[in-house]
Amino acid sequence: MAIDFEKSRTKENLMRAFAGESQARNRYTIAAETARHQGMYSISQIFLFTADQERAHAERYYSLLKSLSGETVIISGGYPIDHSDSLADLLRSAQHNEMEEYEDVYQEFGDVAKEEGFLEAASAFYQIADVEAVHGKRFGKLAEMLENNTYYEREGEGAWMCLNCGHIHRGKRVPEVCPTCRHEKGYFIPVELAPYLECEFMK
Ligand SMILES: [Fe+2]
Ligand SMILES: [Fe+2]
Repeated sequence: MAIDFEKSRTKENLMRAFAGESQARNRYTIAAETARHQGMYSISQIFLFTADQERAHAERYYSLLKSLSGETVIISGGYPIDHSDSLADLLRSAQHNEMEEYEDVYQEFGDVAKEEGFLEAASAFYQIADVEAVHGKRFGKLAEMLENNTYYEREGEGAWMCLNCGHIHRGKRVPEVCPTCRHEKGYFIPVELAPYLECEFMK
């Protein structure tokens, strides 16, 4: 028997997901500010770039609630508080939240939507879950580089790109300022992060 969307669990799960994505977007823009204050401009940009993707997820879930426009949906849900001045800690928290969405939350929401017969919502949950896994790996890799001090220096040779001008630097450590655009060290990003970003600015 077809379930009325108005009475469905999927309606509530879509609203929970919209709330979660909206909060993730804000947490990442706030973390981007923390990174910027610490002179880590490239990490700040990665947080902002990911925040924009969370906005896109929020928009997708919100669009699936369009038929209920004008109504209020009441939900309960648990949402994280992750305050820290340490970027590595913020990245690890973000990684944890992303993997939780990927492994548990969105798989369950997708299964419920499928059971209830809302196949478009189910596929949105499953597809966005896969993106969250990419986000989780991205944040995890960044955290690891900060924790083992390889973000700016290497034992052997490393390669970095200045995100401001695209200059590639090879060597054991990044220069204090980019020789091409004179922007400070914080604009450099290790090129090995490219597969974790899958975006234009590393190509
Ligand atoms: Fe998301
Ligand atoms: Fe995400």
